[in-house]
Order: sequence, then structure tokens, then C-alpha cells
Amino acid sequence: MIVAVFRKARALPFAAVIFLFVLSVSAFASDEEALIRKASQILGPLPASMPSAENPITPEKVRLGKLLFYEPRISIDGTVSCSKCHPLALYAADGLRKSVGHDCVENPRNDPTVFNAASQISEHWTGNRTSVEDQAKQAVTGPPAYGMPSYESAEKILRSYREYRDLFKAAFPSDREPVTIDNFAKAIGAFERTLVTPAPFDSYLKGEKAAMTEQQKRGLSAFMDQGCAGCHSSPFVGGQMYRKFGLFEPYRKYTKSEKVDDGRFAVTKKEADRYVFKTPVLRNVAMTPPYFHDGSVDGLSDAVWIMGKIQLGKDLPKEQVEDIVAFLRALTGKIPEEVMIVPVLPSPE
Ligand code: HEC
Ligand code: HEC
Repeated sequence: MIVAVFRKARALPFAAVIFLFVLSVSAFASDEEALIRKASQILGPLPASMPSAENPITPEKVRLGKLLFYEPRISIDGTVSCSKCHPLALYAADGLRKSVGHDCVENPRNDPTVFNAASQISEHWTGNRTSVEDQAKQAVTGPPAYGMPSYESAEKILRSYREYRDLFKAAFPSDREPVTIDNFAKAIGAFERTLVTPAPFDSYLKGEKAAMTEQQKRGLSAFMDQGCAGCHSSPFVGGQMYRKFGLFEPYRKYTKSEKVDDGRFAVTKKEADRYVFKTPVLRNVAMTPPYFHDGSVDGLSDAVWIMGKIQLGKDLPKEQVEDIVAFLRALTGKIPEEVMIVPVLPSPE
């Protein structure tokens, strides 16, 4: 009997270790469940598309919109299309500090990607375009973009292609004159509304725990706990609000640009909107350097550290910056196969 007690006593530490191990594994598992729940509430998985009541997505519009996305013949010098500045092979951002339009005219700002861009409160850094349709329409006469003298001049060119006449008719069957710049904008808009790129982060939120690394999970926690997600919210991880850029320190300290952009002040003329910008979408951000509206920061780690300094008033430690960057890489999605196929454009008659 004494021996039995002795044996049990020897087994006790072993049982305790097993017990503690099981306890810590389940605590760890419930920590992870809590992280997933929190991230699902604040951010959430990408939807399958970005629909609009005013411009319903149809296969005919999407097909036409994709061709028009690549069409340079309606620009003043015949070289400019959406794909020039939003090349899909570079995740639909050109990689330049400032994009270059017709006749090498430089744009005032860096170009964001068109992936996951259609569900924002507005388009462009300063929100001076109401929707992707409005954006596409205004690009045609935009001086740093297509540079066409009028919408009619672009419509005239499109109407001269029989294939476009047929495709516009199929996409807008109830219109008497389907080939218009408004329908050009609707077709491109419908195409853009399909451009979503689900990423490892989405798989993770749907319960695939191995989709993100431990470092990426730490980065996700930090992204929410430090306050980044307070501005970069929604499944798009941004695009839902305007905020002053430089809340704790002026951006002037960190940019290479000589003059700092006034931001939304240029749109509203209100003093309170000086240096205010739309909080950008961070989906695929690791694929679209350089960073910020003036493209003046090359590295993602630098951009994240600057965000901490000037938007949160925090000097984030290097390891945490690297964790957050790792998380941002989990937002790099897969470009749908059919989007990657470059179309052949209509031939002249
Ligand atoms: C000459 C280069 C150029 C061309 C051509 C161009 N873009 Fe852009 N695009 C930009 C730049 C630069 C911005 C940012 C402008 C700003 O914020 O002031 C931008 C912004 C956008 C945005 C806003 C994204 C966001 O997150 O706010 C969308 C959407 C977009 N472009 C789609 C298109 C489409 C569709 C076309 C073709 C009809 C097009 N672009 C043609 C350079 C270009
Ligand atoms: C108070 C709101 C706010 C907070 C908090 C915030 N951001 Fe931002 N973020 C913005 C705004 C506004 C911009 C646009 C800056 C500009 O005009 O270039 C931006 C830009 C960025 C960019 C550059 C994106 C690009 O395509 O150029 C990154 C990366 C970024 N933020 C990451 C973060 C991270 C990581 C955190 C937390 C450490 C964070 N942000 C905290 C509002 C915020």
C-alpha cells in the first residue's frame, strides 16, 4: 500500500504536466478564437464582388469593361489606357512615385491599385471622385490622363469600331445610342467591381488557422491593438473615412517632396480639411510600393513606422513593425485567372 501511494506520488508531477499542457493548449486555442472573432468584427473577409445599385454587374458589361480598360486609342496621343497606369502584372499600380499620362505629363499623386477599390466612400486620395464610374469617366478628359478635348471626341472613336458598337449594344440593350462615355464608365466600373483578390487573411478568418504564420497573427493583433484598424477598417482594410495625415507630427518631417500636398482642402476649401486624405485600402499593399500620396517612401516597414509616429504618436519597436508588415503581406491576394488574360482589342473596319 505504501508502495502504491509512493508510485502515485511519482506519477503526480507527470499528470500535472499533462494537465497544464492541455490547459495551456486550450487557452492558446481560445486566444486564437478570440483573435479571429475580433478581426472578423473589425475587418472581416472580402466579399465576392463590390456591387452597386446604380450600376448592376452583368457579364456583358464586365466583358466590355475589360476591353475598355486596355483601350489606348481613345487617348490624345494613343498611348494611355487604364492599364498603362494600373498594370495588372504590378497588382494594378505602376510602381512610380507619380504616374505619367499622355505626352509624359506627370500626375500630382501616386497611383493606388484598382483591386478591391470599388467599395470605398469615394475614389482618389482626396475623394474628389464619387465612384469608380465617376473616376473612369473623368479620366478620359483628365489633363494628366487621357487628355481628350471632350467626351464626344472619345465617343466618336469608339463608335468607329463595329465590334465596340456590338458590345455596347449587348451591354446596354435598352439604350437608343449605347456607345456613350457614361456607358464606357459603367462598363469599366462593372469590371472594376469584380476585381477582388481574396488573400491568406480571408482563409484565416474562415477558420484555416495555418493560412497565416505566427508572426502574421502577432502582426494582426498589433494592427488592431495599436489602433491601425481604427482608421484602416472594413474587409478592405481602409477606404471608409477621411483623416488628417500627420495627427501627432507633420508629414513634412518624413517626405522627400518639397511641398506638402494640401489633400482634401483642394476639394472642399475648408481649413479643417488641410492635409486630410482618404484612409487608403491596404489590401495588396506589399505589392504596390512606393507609399503615401506622393510616393515618397519606398519601404513598407518605413511606411508602417511613420504611420505609428504621425498617426498614433507611438515609436513602434522594430520587431512590432516587422510583425505588422508580415500581417500586411497576408493581405496579398490572388488575382483571378480570367483577369490576368490580356484581351485582343477590336480591329479597325
Ligand atoms: C496616367 C495614369 C493613369 C491613368 C491613365 C489612369 N489612372 Fe487611375 N489613377 C492614377 C492616379 C495617379 C490615381 C490617384 C489620383 C489621385 O488620387 O489624385 C488614380 C486613381 C485611380 C482610382 C482610385 C483608387 C483609390 O483607391 O482611390 C481608380 C479606381 C482608378 N484610378 C481607376 C482607373 C481607371 C478605370 C482608369 C481608366 C479609365 C484609370 N484609372 C486611368 C493614374 C492613372
Ligand atoms: C488616424 C488614422 C490612421 C491611423 C491610426 C493609421 N493610418 Fe495608415 N493611413 C491613414 C491615412 C489618412 C493614410 C494616407 C496617407 C497619405 O496621404 O499618403 C494612411 C496610409 C497608410 C499606408 C500607406 C498606403 C499606401 O498605399 O501608400 C500604410 C502602409 C498604412 N497607412 C499603414 C498603417 C498602419 C500599419 C497603422 C498602424 C501602425 C496605421 N496605418 C495607422 C490613416 C491612418
